[in-house]
Amino acid sequence: MDGLAIAGLARPDLDAIHEIEVAQFDDPWSLRVLRDELEAPNRRYTKATRDGGIVGYLGLMLVDAEAHVNTIATAPAEEGTGVATALLAEAIRAVAATGTRDVTLEVASRNLRAQRLYLRFGFAPVGMRRGYYPHSGDDAVVMWVRDVHTPSYAATLASIEAA
Ligand SMILES: CC(C)(COP(=O)(O)OP(=O)(O)OC[C@H]1O[C@@H](n2cnc3c(N)ncnc32)[C@H](O)[C@@H]1OP(=O)(O)O)[C@@H](O)C(=O)NCCC(=O)NCCS
Repeated sequence: MDGLAIAGLARPDLDAIHEIEVAQFDDPWSLRVLRDELEAPNRRYTKATRDGGIVGYLGLMLVDAEAHVNTIATAPAEEGTGVATALLAEAIRAVAATGTRDVTLEVASRNLRAQRLYLRFGFAPVGMRRGYYPHSGDDAVVMWVRDVHTPSYAATLASIEAA
């Protein structure tokens, strides 16, 4: 993960984020939706940078003791270099320190790459939402990881990062 840094996402970053969004999703959010998301209540958006350039981003929604992964993506040229792992590890550690206990997300049933990432973080599939994605009609797998505030989960995060 050399040279990789994680920081808060701000409005001036949105054009670069949108470029990744368009490259990575079949039904990408518009710039306006991204901006509205960023500025909505209870959101935590971060960016990953390498050599000053934005290479990925992650958006969480925080509700009580739960965090919902609203979006995560890595620039195509940077996939497989630990960007999403670094984003997720930083975010879970930070929100666990401020009251989050459980983290959830939906992922397309066909998106095995993303599912592998989440499984490494201890997310477990708990159900399906049929036809969740309107554009493709794909089903979503609902995944949860529980008790991210515990020392045992902190050890899990440390071992993921060490790998
Ligand atoms: C899914 C996605 C976010 C993963 O991002 P990524 O930055 O490539 O993820 P990472 O690099 O952290 O991990 C991916 C793989 O690289 C490996 N890896 C991580 N760091 C590495 C390193 N330094 N060197 C070599 N390999 C590494 C990981 O072990 C992992 O392997 P696996 O797929 O066999 O489990 C990315 O593919 C993406 O943007 N996809 C399109 C958008 C999307 O589907 N988002 C999720 C919606 S739910």
